[in-house]
Amino acid sequence: MTGARNPGLEIADDRADHYLGLPGAHIVATDSLLMVRDNLADVLAAKAMMCVHGDAGLGKTLSVNASLRELAANTVCRVQFRARPTPRDIRHELFRALGIGGEPPTKPIEFDAVLKDVLGQRFRVLVCDEAQWLSRECFEYWRHLWDDRATDIAIVFVGGGDCYQVLRREPMLSSRVYVWQEFQRMPREQVLRVIPAYHPVWENTDAEVIGFADAHAGHGNFRAWAKITAHAARALSRLDQSGVDREVLGWVFSKLSGRAG
Ligand SMILES: Nc1ncnc2c1ncn2[C@@H]1O[C@H](COP(=O)(O)OP(=O)(O)O)[C@@H](O)[C@H]1O
Ligand SMILES: [Mg+2]
Repeated sequence: MTGARNPGLEIADDRADHYLGLPGAHIVATDSLLMVRDNLADVLAAKAMMCVHGDAGLGKTLSVNASLRELAANTVCRVQFRARPTPRDIRHELFRALGIGGEPPTKPIEFDAVLKDVLGQRFRVLVCDEAQWLSRECFEYWRHLWDDRATDIAIVFVGGGDCYQVLRREPMLSSRVYVWQEFQRMPREQVLRVIPAYHPVWENTDAEVIGFADAHAGHGNFRAWAKITAHAARALSRLDQSGVDREVLGWVFSKLSGRAG
């Protein structure tokens, strides 16, 4: 984050937040990120549940991570699944993420007792990313942990497009969700505001060129912009140019489309 441009929002960067660990990239204050930060503050205060959903690449994971680093760094426990998990997978993943150590219990009842004991020792925020993979049974398991009076937790579900529908289908859980937040594409005027602060290659670039890049490749999607930026930085050094213009963009687009012309 460039403090000078947005003095109200100092968010520490962590290279791992950025696509390809892009050198020179800063976390910027998108409207969605600011809203996530406010919502998370409420959710933590209420020890409640939240659902952050929206299409891939819109900045959900980064916004939640950066905000929690600032709001509650030492209480965060992240779990993430890549394929359809079962409640058993969730138990094991929590066991690992909580750093419990030793052999995981074999019987579910014992396992739950261990987890609940640890989750009751001090307040924690459990972040379940890629929540669109969760089945009804899995959501039921999270609810079970959250409802238990012994546990002291807030839960943040972060997921792709389907996450919202899947969760909404589970009234037992969805009725308990305190805040819902949908991520959307950045509108053009927001792109023009945040992209120059995002990376030095855009700092002195004409708004017209940034608008053109957004119309043709960025589409208000931050991961797409991260990719464009990585290629643009490379192009500048190859073409020995100091600023991005339409010629540089042409080079970038050729990499992105995989097609000549
Ligand atoms: N607010 C932001 N500031 C800077 N870069 C961002 C921001 N939001 C997203 N990005 C970039 O876009 C990429 C994709 O964001 P991510 O949070 O992983 O999207 P999602 O979880 O919605 O699929 C990140 O790796 C990062 O490079
Ligand atoms: Mg993500």
